[in-house]
Amino acid sequence: MKTLITDSPLEAAALLIAGKTVAFPTETVYGLGAAIDSPAAIAEVFKAKGRPQDNPLIVHISTPEELPRVASKLSPEAELLVSRFFPGPLTLVLPKSNEVPYAVTAGLDSVGVRCPAHPVAHEFLKCCHTPVAAPSANRSGRPSATSWEAVRNDLDGRIAAILKGSNSRIGLESTIVDCTGPNPVMLRAGAITLEELQEVIPAITPAGKTQKNEPLKSPGLKYPHYAPRATVVTHEQGKSPALTPDSAWIGLGVPPVGITIKKTCISLDEYAQELFSFFRHCDREAVQTIYCELPPEKGLGRAIRDRLNRAAGNH
Ligand code: TXA
Ligand code: MG
Repeated sequence: MKTLITDSPLEAAALLIAGKTVAFPTETVYGLGAAIDSPAAIAEVFKAKGRPQDNPLIVHISTPEELPRVASKLSPEAELLVSRFFPGPLTLVLPKSNEVPYAVTAGLDSVGVRCPAHPVAHEFLKCCHTPVAAPSANRSGRPSATSWEAVRNDLDGRIAAILKGSNSRIGLESTIVDCTGPNPVMLRAGAITLEELQEVIPAITPAGKTQKNEPLKSPGLKYPHYAPRATVVTHEQGKSPALTPDSAWIGLGVPPVGITIKKTCISLDEYAQELFSFFRHCDREAVQTIYCELPPEKGLGRAIRDRLNRAAGNH
């Protein structure tokens, strides 16, 4: 299949409406979209990514007013989160409506819903006139794509089109909050921090480690993620690692001596924004080991730590 590259949201939307797969920019990472009512396109999304069938897709809407189409019910807590954080880098897990097929939710009665705050994403979703199921636009297991070029590197020839946009402003995937239980639970850390969520709903907690035999709250979290080809090795701040040849480093502090491929980030925002593109850069440079400094576990640091630990296979 020839992958069309376009900067027209209208042209991209026309393809999606015709049952094709279309990658599009959002402020978190690029998504790979399919109309929720197109079983063939949904199947193509799983195939193009090599995504396990039991990993549900997030449904994207252009405005919060479209929520009733995809969610059957909003708890008072969900209402609060919507009014504070939609549109934005937050996904809410809600009871699904009948309009959302089980092919999208991988058989679950809940659906992850997100309303991106990105002008091109908004325009595209508006032109689609349908909710759009979209996982991150990368090959399964790889770092998410934060530029249209990264999408092309992973998915050229496997999807119908890429809607071009600028590099993703945030660079890490959305925060996911499960609102189907008595108390909302943060399933995945992201740019909306736990602290910000707790300002609105003090009872929100991060998901604990799932007990053996207990069903996973977020099916996708059991799979390896965000992994470059190089081995990722994490270290706490101030604990410089012992170097191996052909290695690279990213962090906030001073890089270890002797490393040539390195990225010192001046803020957590920059660390989040750069992380996945740095991983991809290291792969192009055939780096063997990437040393990554773990930021403190608060604010945006929680999301960065989570991605680093997963990329390193630490949990
Ligand atoms: O920022 C983002 O969230 C990006 C952009 C494109 O919106 N999307 C994204 O999608 O990161 P993906 O598929 O890479 O990650 C979605 C995660 C998976 O871990 C999946 O298991 C979880 O959301 N998820 C989706 N629906 C769910 C549901 N009903 N219940 C629990 N977890 C769900
Ligand atoms: Mg993903």
